Amino acid sequence: MKQLLFFSNNKNKITEIKKIFNKFNLKLLSLSDVDISDEPAENAQTFEENAKIKSDYGFNKTGIPCFADDSGICIETLNWKPGVFSKRFLNNFKNNEACFKRIIRSVKKNGKQNAYFKTSISLTINKDQNVVFNGKIHGKISNHIKGRYGFGYDPIFIPTHHKKTLAEISIKEKNEISHRSVAVKKLINFLSN
Ligand code: IMP
Repeated sequence: MKQLLFFSNNKNKITEIKKIFNKFNLKLLSLSDVDISDEPAENAQTFEENAKIKSDYGFNKTGIPCFADDSGICIETLNWKPGVFSKRFLNNFKNNEACFKRIIRSVKKNGKQNAYFKTSISLTINKDQNVVFNGKIHGKISNHIKGRYGFGYDPIFIPTHHKKTLAEISIKEKNEISHRSVAVKKLINFLSN
């Protein structure tokens, strides 16, 4: 059976991805299976580059084809930032609520409501062979913080054609439309062909 390494330490993501890969004749490994405890610095300016830094690192260390992802939110009222700095931006506030209030205030000031989440997955198959798959979900910043599901910016993001924030819908429903699932589907499509 062929092996594939998922370069992530995030337990939720690993469980989610392992579930999806169960159907395939592939042995999906994560970092603990290959004894990698260090991670390279994700200091690039794009999701694509950050994902590639990680998938190249995993391949170079193990020789096993490796994929990695990088995601975040881009918000119109913040000049389409924080992007690759999404996690750090949130952590700069005393709590998530303070961050969300700051974003909502800014939207109310200039009326720029649009936002999108993006995921880039990089797959390193060989030393100089790399493919990137992108997934996006467009929407707007809600007027209020709502919902208790999900994580990160979910409580202030309403997907286009929806009325609820991503934190008000179940994880199953979110997975049907999310940026991450779009990118994962493209990866799976590639691997099955
Ligand atoms: P990561 O690259 O998937 O770890 O995502 C980086 C950061 O982007 C997270 O810590 C969250 O703040 C934000 N983010 C990424 N995906 C989502 C999502 O699906 N919902 C809410 N926030 C997200």
